[in-house]
Amino acid sequence: MDIVYQPVSDAQIETVRALADRIWRISYPGMITLEQIDYMLGWMYSPETLREELSGAYRYELVVIDGQPSGFFSVCPKPDEGYLYLCKLYVLPELQGQGLGQQMLAHIAEIARASGLAEIRLNVNRRNTRALRAYEKFGFTVRESVTNDIGHGFVMDDYVMSCRVSGCGRAGAAADDLRLRTHAPARPLRGRQHLSS
Ligand SMILES: CC(C)(COP(=O)(O)OP(=O)(O)OC[C@H]1O[C@@H](n2cnc3c(N)ncnc32)[C@H](O)[C@@H]1OP(=O)(O)O)[C@@H](O)C(=O)NCCC(=O)NCCS
Repeated sequence: MDIVYQPVSDAQIETVRALADRIWRISYPGMITLEQIDYMLGWMYSPETLREELSGAYRYELVVIDGQPSGFFSVCPKPDEGYLYLCKLYVLPELQGQGLGQQMLAHIAEIARASGLAEIRLNVNRRNTRALRAYEKFGFTVRESVTNDIGHGFVMDDYVMSCRVSGCGRAGAAADDLRLRTHAPARPLRGRQHLSS
């Protein structure tokens, strides 16, 4: 198995959109309504939003397995607060539960380390038990519970989770298991501010 992390540029926006659409529509029914899925996909994954994020402080990377786009993540540095914010982490449904998420988290922890950021933070839906287990397995713990109004009558009931990069995951082990070959080493992020939350 050949696993490559590929930085996303404007040319791969449609690939990210297609992956998100497929993963959200399979993974999130039962957690949020179909109306909320449509609303959030239209808002967070519009070509305009993605283009704006890519031209700002966000870094998106695709995970390409044997030539097939199989997942993606996005991160945004918060240098003033000393952490890397993990905005998005997605694996195709047929590949979930096989350790890829742990490997992606190990790669993201390397990005944080290389950027001089000691902590990773994220928001996760409180009902997303699979993701919660994946994050806890890597070493994340819940900091607080938050409810964010996202407009149009929808809210996000989240946990904010965090982990210290010094003690999380099994550094390198997950990558070895999956015979990682990355063409996108965990280069440091620039300390630019993100454009929107
Ligand atoms: C959350 C996600 C990125 C984790 O990636 P993953 O490759 O599935 O995770 P891993 O294989 O590393 O799983 C780690 C743990 O999570 C749990 N888990 C994750 N996916 C699972 C699945 N489909 N079925 C059962 N358990 C699962 C298991 O407890 C697993 O531990 P185990 O290997 O000891 O059983 C992935 O499941 C996903 O894309 N889910 C849908 C989108 C989503 O919820 N993203 C997170 C938004 S905050």
